[in-house]
Parts: sequence; C-alpha cells; structure tokens
Amino acid sequence: MGLGIGFLGCSSLIILAVSISHAYADPLVPSLCIFGDSVVDAGNNNNLYTLVKANFPPYGRDFANRRSTGRFCNGKLATDFTAENLGFTAYQPAYLSPEATGKNLLTGANFASAASGYDDRTAQLYQAISLPQQLNYYKEWQSKVVNLVGRTKAASIFSKGVHILSAGNSDFIQNYYVNPVLNQAYSADQYSDILLNSYRTFVQNLYGLGVRRMGVTSLPPTGCLPAAITLFGAGSNECVQRLNQDATSFNVKLKNTSQGLQSKLPGLILVVFDIYHPLLDMVTKPVENGFFESRRACCGTGTVETSLLCNARSIGTCSNATGYVFWDGFHPTEAANMVLAGDLLGQGISLIS
Ligand SMILES: *[C@@H]1O[C@H](CO)[C@@H](O)[C@H](O)[C@H]1NC(C)=O
Ligand SMILES: *[C@@H]1O[C@H](CO)[C@@H](O)[C@H](O)[C@H]1NC(C)=O
Repeated sequence: MGLGIGFLGCSSLIILAVSISHAYADPLVPSLCIFGDSVVDAGNNNNLYTLVKANFPPYGRDFANRRSTGRFCNGKLATDFTAENLGFTAYQPAYLSPEATGKNLLTGANFASAASGYDDRTAQLYQAISLPQQLNYYKEWQSKVVNLVGRTKAASIFSKGVHILSAGNSDFIQNYYVNPVLNQAYSADQYSDILLNSYRTFVQNLYGLGVRRMGVTSLPPTGCLPAAITLFGAGSNECVQRLNQDATSFNVKLKNTSQGLQSKLPGLILVVFDIYHPLLDMVTKPVENGFFESRRACCGTGTVETSLLCNARSIGTCSNATGYVFWDGFHPTEAANMVLAGDLLGQGISLIS
C-alpha cells in the first residue's frame, strides 16, 4: 500500500488534496453580500444607462482571462480577495448580471453600483443604483434564496452571512466637492451627518431583514487619490489636506454611529473597517509596502483618467501595474487591494467567528 501511494507521485497527491478542499470544504460563512459604490462594484453598472462604467480594456487586463468585468481595477477588488479568504470558490455575481441566477445566488450577491452613495442624489446624478434600490434588490435576492432552500435554511444564510458596505467616496468626490448646490448649502461636517443618517437607516433596514453580521469600510484618504490631487490640489503634488481632514472627520462619526447601532440592535456584529490608514501608509511609504509609484496612477497620464477616460487608447498607461498603488485616478490596483484585503481580514475576525 505504502509503495502504491508512493507511485502516485507528489503532484497528484497535491492535486487530490487541493480538489478535496475546494470541492468539500465549506466556506467560513454561508454567504457574502456586497453593497456600495465603484470600490466594490463587480459589474452592475454594465447593465445601466450610465457613463460610469469599466467594462472595457484596460480594465480587467490582469483579471482571470483578461476579462473586463466592470470592476474598476486592473484585476481583483479587495472584496474579491475577501471572498477567497473566506473560502468561496467563485465570486459572488453582480446581481444584474446573467450569472446571478439559480444556485449561484446561494452564496450571496454583489449589489454595488459605481457612483452610488449614501446620498441618493449622488446615484441620481450618474444614473447609478441608489442604496435604497440596492436594498430592494437585496430583498428580491432573499426571496429567491427562500424559494431555493426554504425559510429555515435561508434565515441562517441571511443571519450568518457577511454583508459589506463601501460607500461615501462618490458622495464626496463626485458630488459634494463638485456640486455648488451641496457645498454652498452644507459644510463638510453637515454633509457627513446627512450621509450618516442614510447609513443608519440602511443598517437598521438590513437588520430588520435578519442580517446580523455587517462590515462597513471607512473613507480612504480621499485627498491622496491621484484625481483628487489633480482636481482639488491647486497645482500641488501633495495629498490635499482639506479632503483628508473631511474623510477623517467622517470616519470618526462613522465609528461613533456604528457603536450606537451595535449597542441598540441586539445580536448585531458591526465592524468598521479602517482603510484610511492602510492606504495612507501605502501612499506615504510606497517602498516599505512593496510599491514604487504612489502618486501617479497606472492608467493614462495617471493624473485623472477614470471610467471612459481610462480606455484602450489612453496614452501612457503603464505596462505592469504591480508597482503602482493606484490603477486609475480614483481606484487602487489589484496589488494595493491585496494589501487592503489582508487588513480587512485582520479587522473582521469577529464577523467569522
Ligand atoms: C455619537 O453618537 C451618539 C448617538 O449614538 C450621538 O448622540 C452623538 O452626538 C455622537 N457624537 C459625535 C461626536 O458624533
Ligand atoms: C509585473 O512585475 C512583477 C514584479 O516585478 C512580476 O512578478 C510580474 O510577472 C510582472 N507582470 C507582467 C504581466 O509582466
């Protein structure tokens, strides 16, 4: 017997072990559902009449089969790494995509939409899917899951599943800072309060639908995004401190609001993922983090191009994005997303235990 196994050879044993773990090991949680904006959109905007899309090259050039899925990245999003880390063998489908059907829905879905946000006016401006509409799709998803597996099993998929929300970026960058109707009516602090009211409602609604495990991402250092430096930096090459301060204040309020919600809603685990400090660290100390470029993005001139402006004809696009922190004017590279996902995993232990 011993000899026989020896003749199988190392590689086939390894293949056997890997296929067993993939075929039979359960993920750490039954489902993963994702809400928010372009930081986590996996292709919902492909199916909308919006200009904010990323389903064409060079987007996705480092993704499986070099496919432009609609992700605002050269490769994987941080939440794709999270799905892998949780043990899922396929990414949760974008809810509006053809893949979002039948048994594919049992492990969750992605409801996020680029240029959406806590403020419904942000989504309206860009014809994206507002958070209340993402919630409606989520309810529809829940009823499909109930039809597939019955009420009891479904309830446990909802309560034990992880729900991640990533919003606020577009509210500030694509709406508040460029929209006099808003920035003349409200201070950044007041605008944050408006956003957080919507956040509170969203969490309460999910809780009402049986959700018990949620993670919300903080704002990144918005003033360090290449396009923000170009648009709001007044010619300077440094991170825009005003924007970073607004993000920091928002994040303090987000934390406080989340603690309030967690203490008010019994059984809810609500984790605030800090992406501000990990990303700021990559921007200010690129070399220590394995990068060589943290100011210019890879796509085009690296100063502003995003969405339609970052396309196959953009001049100057880098040939290898692994040394870059930013892929386009607003979004990190796959390499940076991998670092962020490592931080998410460390911070989110309470969601999976
Ligand atoms: C923190 O949240 C509580 C409600 O949970 C609120 O009353 C208080 O004003 C908040 N503090 C800040 C600094 O936002
Ligand atoms: C990009 O560079 C990294 C590190 O230098 C290397 O490992 C990788 O193979 C390169 N990728 C491509 C597509 O050339």
